[in-house]
Amino acid sequence: QDRLKALGKSDLPPIRHLHVIGAGAMGGDIAAWASLRGVTVTLQDLAPERIAPAIKRAHELYTKRLKLPHLIQAAMDRLIPDVAGSGVAKADLIIEAIVENAEVKKKLFAQVEPKMKAGAILASNTSSIPLQELFDALKRPERLVGLHFFNPVAQMMLVEIVESPRTPQHVMLAGQAFAKQIDKLPLPCKSAPGFLVNRVLTPYLNEAMLMVDEGIPPETIDAAAKDFGMPMGPIELADMVGLDVGWAVGQELAKPGAIVPKKLKALVDGKRFGKKSGEGFYKWVNGKPVKSS
Ligand code: NAI
Repeated sequence: QDRLKALGKSDLPPIRHLHVIGAGAMGGDIAAWASLRGVTVTLQDLAPERIAPAIKRAHELYTKRLKLPHLIQAAMDRLIPDVAGSGVAKADLIIEAIVENAEVKKKLFAQVEPKMKAGAILASNTSSIPLQELFDALKRPERLVGLHFFNPVAQMMLVEIVESPRTPQHVMLAGQAFAKQIDKLPLPCKSAPGFLVNRVLTPYLNEAMLMVDEGIPPETIDAAAKDFGMPMGPIELADMVGLDVGWAVGQELAKPGAIVPKKLKALVDGKRFGKKSGEGFYKWVNGKPVKSS
């Protein structure tokens, strides 16, 4: 919080309308957070039933943080489900948080770009895909910046503001200003594999998962990490991030000869992605890890 205050607010005009595409773990919570901080948000996904859980989580967040019914209602009113994607044309900023697949993201960009208003910025929440792989889907790649939030959005201050070789300075500054506008801490970095945080985090998680392969129970590893001062152990964190997402990041960072944890591969192959699917390294009940699987 102190560092955020020291950074100060920006002189750039605030983002008034944000459009988020993908209402999953990240997109849903980014939308909820931005609305909590006063931004009007349209939230798009493939079907209304994919948006509904995000709206429910947003309501829980507002109830916890805002307490007063009229403030909760105002935040709910600012968060608008939008399956048709009509918010794209009005938004100052569009954040894409759909599946971690370059081809799917490029297809989406090609549909979205012609509808964007002049001066609007397009951001990707990708955790691992270099922006250089995405911007050739755009007629104007200079509109693209990475805004990489961390999970859980409401608790994690940091947002990596990712610069592609085509991102101009004013777009980087606008990304940083938006992070500050919603009380997050911007960390500008270049679009290199894993950006900054995942480049450091992924080898740590990978080593912990290799220890599971060696027969050490997840509980033992996580307890040791907590004794060491970590707020959460690496195996619980991997489950919480989503093993499919962790897998995709790991593939992006893997060097030839890197050792892939066997248990991780078996879980991802079996669609046991961690907290979001109710089972990963742990079985998850009511949002809490109960016992290793
Ligand atoms: P998720 O699987 O929870 O949600 C993705 C959502 O996108 C789903 O609701 C899906 O229906 C929707 N979607 C897919 N294609 C779509 C399309 N064409 N149009 C509209 N909606 C579409 O995934 P999650 O975990 O939220 O990840 C989303 C992005 O955020 C990925 O790029 C991921 O790498 C990144 N990310 C994930 C983090 C995590 O901890 N899970 C952390 C930081 C970034």
